[in-house]
Amino acid sequence: MNKLRCASTIAVLLFTLASCGDANNKSKPSDGEPVAAAKPTGEDIYKKNCVACHQGNGEGVPGAFPPLAKSDYLADKEKTISQVIKGSSGEITVNGKTFTGTMPAQQLNDDEVAAVLTYVYGNLGNSGGAVTPAEVKAIRDKH
Ligand code: HEC
Repeated sequence: MNKLRCASTIAVLLFTLASCGDANNKSKPSDGEPVAAAKPTGEDIYKKNCVACHQGNGEGVPGAFPPLAKSDYLADKEKTISQVIKGSSGEITVNGKTFTGTMPAQQLNDDEVAAVLTYVYGNLGNSGGAVTPAEVKAIRDKH
């Protein structure tokens, strides 16, 4: 009798273990979801890639880095997208002030450029407007 009980306990244990394993397997496909949800936002990209020069509030640094906050340069979307993709060096005029620094081309894909510029256009005192990955791609292809 005891042996039988023992065996059935083991059987139950094995069954439990097996179904544990199953449960784990079932949850596998959704494991990737939190990673996908953690895709960086425009704000994340701004903080990681732009803040060092243009500052958190987008005011830039007088005489060194031009402002993105209320920047009149942003009125030209094509030039703005191109600036991020290609960077620039030499003279640039923003809100009537001249800057002669160098901005390195940003190593960002179309989605990331669209996200960070949508953030810039929609924040930092700017008047809004979205930049789409398709617009970024079109300008990348042009140059
Ligand atoms: C290493 C410093 C640096 C980083 C990092 C940087 N920039 Fe710039 N940015 C500059 C400088 C310097 C200029 C002016 C370049 C010139 O004189 O040709 C500029 C100019 C610009 C301009 C056009 C002028 C204006 O102020 O409106 C835009 C738009 C811009 N940057 C956006 C960005 C964005 C978006 C990022 C992040 C994805 C970024 N920059 C990262 C230094 C930087």
